[in-house]
Amino acid sequence: MKALVLAGGKGTRLRPFTYSMAKQLVPVANTPVLTHCLENIRSIGVREVAVVVGGGEVEIQSVIGDGADLGLEITYLVQDSPLGLAHCVRIAADFLGDDDFVMYLGDNVVADGIGEAAERFRAQRPDAQVLVAKVDDPRQYGVVEVDHDGRVHLLAEKPLHPRSDLAIVGVYFFTAAVHEAVADLRPSHRGELEITDALQWLVNRGRVVTASDYPGYWRDIGSADGLLDCNRVLLQRVTAAVRGRVDSTSTVRGEVVVEEGAVVTGSELVGPLVIGAGAVVNGSHLGPFTSVGPGCLIEDSTISDSILLDGAQVFGARELRRSLIGRWAKVGTGGGGAGRMLIGDHSLAQVIA
Ligand code: TTP
Repeated sequence: MKALVLAGGKGTRLRPFTYSMAKQLVPVANTPVLTHCLENIRSIGVREVAVVVGGGEVEIQSVIGDGADLGLEITYLVQDSPLGLAHCVRIAADFLGDDDFVMYLGDNVVADGIGEAAERFRAQRPDAQVLVAKVDDPRQYGVVEVDHDGRVHLLAEKPLHPRSDLAIVGVYFFTAAVHEAVADLRPSHRGELEITDALQWLVNRGRVVTASDYPGYWRDIGSADGLLDCNRVLLQRVTAAVRGRVDSTSTVRGEVVVEEGAVVTGSELVGPLVIGAGAVVNGSHLGPFTSVGPGCLIEDSTISDSILLDGAQVFGARELRRSLIGRWAKVGTGGGGAGRMLIGDHSLAQVIA
């Protein structure tokens, strides 16, 4: 089996971060979401992986490289514009050949792995297998209707009037049967080649498409809320490790990771919490559910349920919650009794009135 990881796309919902970085490199619990995906793929015994990249090509290659560090052989495929998930399968046809493959959306956190799903696919070998989970609002997902025997008979992409509450999780298993379907597709009303249309194409021709319940946690990091939610869940899986320096006037409670070269003084750390290499924390209360990136500087602040990317700086913030602070951004108290902001496009700032 091979793997196809989709790491192109527009990332409009996660602006302004996606103006300057690929969505799939946004860190969750201080590790790029793409690395979490690749680790799940390796754990089902797949080695050959193609990663579809768009504008973020150079940055993704510089972080993930040829995959050797992860025990993978990675090939990059450039998608000139984000023409849809099924378009990604089209451009990967030569790489995939006649092999079965797992297609994995590179912005999805599938926290409990894909081992059982892979086993089921390998044992039953339907033409395609999707993972599904019940959701409250199916309108933002690919939605399936399933027979009592687990066979899919109807699919719809982000339907206005969903006929079931079963959403497709971002991991799909395919045999080579999908290539004929994908080659025959026309763009949808969204202008994309939809993978749900390719699956429906298979169903309409009597091919076997099955749905397998995914009982674990999954979500995409596509929006700020999604990203913070994924961060909470992955932080719950970290184990305490203090490799940096925490002085005797600081306290540490719960699962707290302090990476090498980080220095914490006069602070209260509450896990789950990760503090990246070389970060400096002074006189602050951090956590729970907070990821502080490498090289951050935090002074006299209280921060919980948040993500600070590399090199971010926070000074004198009385209470920051559910916040995302971009790379080398600065947040602090204003001088002269007035606030001051230099905020990029599509940013959000909520000041305490
Ligand atoms: P989406 O989240 O559906 O699309 P997007 O990344 O463009 O985001 P937004 O809706 O916020 O604009 O994509 C799911 C994953 O698939 C994500 O990792 C990007 C990737 N993708 C591609 O690689 N090529 C594509 O043509 C599309 C549509 C998505």
